[in-house]
Amino acid sequence: MNRLVIENLNAGYGSVAVLHDVCMEVRESEFVALLGTNGNGKSTLLNTILGFVRPQGGRILLDWDGQTIDLARLQPHEIVNAGVALVPEGRRLVPNLTVEENLILAGSCPRAKDQISRNLDFCYTTFPLLKERRAQQASTMSGGQQQLLAIARALMTSPRIMLIDEPSVGLAPIVVGQVFEAVRELQTTQKLTILMAEQSFFQAVDLASRAYVLSHGHIIRAIDRAVEQIDPEDLRAAMMGLEHS
Ligand SMILES: Nc1ncnc2c1ncn2[C@@H]1O[C@H](COP(=O)(O)OP(=O)(O)O)[C@@H](O)[C@H]1O
Ligand SMILES: [Mg+2]
Repeated sequence: MNRLVIENLNAGYGSVAVLHDVCMEVRESEFVALLGTNGNGKSTLLNTILGFVRPQGGRILLDWDGQTIDLARLQPHEIVNAGVALVPEGRRLVPNLTVEENLILAGSCPRAKDQISRNLDFCYTTFPLLKERRAQQASTMSGGQQQLLAIARALMTSPRIMLIDEPSVGLAPIVVGQVFEAVRELQTTQKLTILMAEQSFFQAVDLASRAYVLSHGHIIRAIDRAVEQIDPEDLRAAMMGLEHS
């Protein structure tokens, strides 16, 4: 089975331990939510998968097409090349490049460069507004448009799995709804494999088939919506650390 598996992952910054024995998996075509309020380690986890933060223990394995790749041994560009794409928190576009230049830059990685025109077509079909604005400088677009561009940029790398870090940050609620809807649409039509970090837990869990709750760097809850109902109050309490179980 194709999947990303995280086993007993410990990671942090120097002597500051952030992630503690994190175990989780994301299977091909799944939409998994990573929930947690501010400062609980969501970005640290995604950045560790991408190789920006070095694991201090545990394993991050990409089991795909009969091959097992140990991501913890690779550099970020090699991890992108293995098929893992990150849509970072705060989007981090190249502000003074145009929409199309941002897309082409990402699509020029070795993994995807042969498919660059097909990927560009796909992004423009999926997000027609990016096509209309292809010559516009990224920094002059609205927050919601920039978020869609950041997602499209990740698609340009032909990912096997896409990690999306808090796409709702800094966006008005109505725009958040539009961005989530775009992600949902992509996932259902393309069967994309997505791990999305969010603190807007109610909306995020609504999109996802499974979810993990991260609290102080520990996975305190794994939810499978196929087998359990979610009580929003209970989930909120768990995320706020109010749970006593
Ligand atoms: N570059 C860094 N250096 C030191 N500590 C950091 C750094 N980035 C994040 N942290 C700390 O790691 C913890 C988790 O942060 P983060 O992963 O950003 O959480 P989240 O994404 O859930 O808001 C916080 O206590 C934060 O202060
Ligand atoms: Mg974060």
